[in-house]
Amino acid sequence: MHVDWKHIAIALAILPVAALLFAWIGFFNVGASSGHWKITDWFLHFAMRSAVRTYALSVDVPEKLPHHTLQPAAGHFARGCAICHGAPGEPRSPAVLRMLPQPPALAERVGEWNDAELFRIVKHGIRFTGMPAWPSQARDDEVWAMVAFLRDLPAMDERTYRDLAYGDPADPALHPVDFGQSLAECVRCHAADGLGRSAATPILAGQSEAYLIQSLRAYAEGRRQSGVMALPATAVDAALLRDLAQHFAALPSRKPDRIHHDPALMRRGEEVARIGIPAAKVPACLGCHGGRERNPLYPRIAGQPAEYIAVQLDLFRHGKRGGTEFSHLMTDAAKGLSDTDIAALAAYFSTLRQAPATGAP
Ligand code: HEC
Ligand code: HEC
Ligand code: HEC
Repeated sequence: MHVDWKHIAIALAILPVAALLFAWIGFFNVGASSGHWKITDWFLHFAMRSAVRTYALSVDVPEKLPHHTLQPAAGHFARGCAICHGAPGEPRSPAVLRMLPQPPALAERVGEWNDAELFRIVKHGIRFTGMPAWPSQARDDEVWAMVAFLRDLPAMDERTYRDLAYGDPADPALHPVDFGQSLAECVRCHAADGLGRSAATPILAGQSEAYLIQSLRAYAEGRRQSGVMALPATAVDAALLRDLAQHFAALPSRKPDRIHHDPALMRRGEEVARIGIPAAKVPACLGCHGGRERNPLYPRIAGQPAEYIAVQLDLFRHGKRGGTEFSHLMTDAAKGLSDTDIAALAAYFSTLRQAPATGAP
């Protein structure tokens, strides 16, 4: 076959320019959400494994791994590693599961590496992955302590890990997740009075306890989608969710002080709330959200911020909001709502002190 060297030379010269152009236009997807192609993933891990294997050849492995240092290694693991890799009894957080590459649950992985390779990874980290190097490069003894801990990890149960990393759970001073600490986490956004620090944050004060707890479980289990709430709902000890719900439910609810300046919009909101929109198969909202005697899983919406109400109605309308076992009722109710209806309902309910008992006009 005739090889045209001139054409090959031209093609080779054009290639870097084409690659540069491709990158400059912005076609290369740097997003993490879609993952790598299978071949890219294979290549990156192939390169990583080869590099770790080669560099580990120069590591001097001690005769015996240190075991008297297990406790501080576990204590460091709880702060420096568990945030990405999880730990016995602590699954990885939803934010971390969306990292690319995803930090693995280490108990399942450490068996694939020898001691020198683990040392190499823990001391130097892994470039381009988020896996950090050891904070002090001068302390190989600490790195070996961590390798020893990693060796024990696959067989370690939750209780042993917690005891090593946090201390005796019976000692209240050492208890890692007490109510006050968890509440402080919620208060960052929901405020101590439970009224919320922004119009995007729902009022928890005075909301029904049953609804609050079911909503928290729905966030934690991914049945109700919210990246912002998935983190606190999974970070908090499951045993404390009920206490937190009880705490917020018992706080006094807000008396809305905002007056809406568009009377026509308010009238439209009230009309839909009381009688619905029969032509669009929208039921009367107050049939479920009115009065005091309603099902405890039908939330109180009177006084919620208009912005929050509008976003939730839009999510329901598009089938994007789950929650309690009754959330499908709300998906059906919201299907026929137009943008104007949503604005009107948000205006009406956000300025309402107490929802009237009946849907009848
Ligand atoms: C910011 C997140 C993050 C932190 C913190 C972190 N790692 Fe990693 N780690 C990663 C990621 C991501 C990978 C996966 C690299 C890959 O898939 O190539 C990884 C890989 C590893 C591996 C190799 C496992 C395998 O088979 O791929 C080990 C061992 C490891 N980490 C140990 C640790 C230890 C010990 C600590 C604490 C001192 C720690 N990591 C802290 C993100 C983290
Ligand atoms: C980073 C801010 C932030 C933190 C921290 C936070 N929340 Fe939230 N919370 C929100 C936002 C924003 C929403 C609305 C999410 C949505 O659109 O579904 C929300 C929604 C909720 C809901 C649903 C209420 C309803 O009316 O449907 C509950 C219950 C809740 N949070 C409880 C908690 C508890 C308990 C904690 C502490 C463990 C907490 N939140 C921590 C911001 C936060
Ligand atoms: C058949 C009963 C029913 C009707 C009718 C109904 N809802 Fe709901 N609504 C629910 C239930 C149940 C939920 C709780 C959904 C969940 O998270 O499981 C809910 C939730 C909501 C929420 C979210 C509250 C929060 O704190 O996140 C808003 C806003 C809302 N409804 C507004 C309306 C409006 C406006 C109408 C009228 C167009 C309406 N609802 C009609 C049962 C109903």
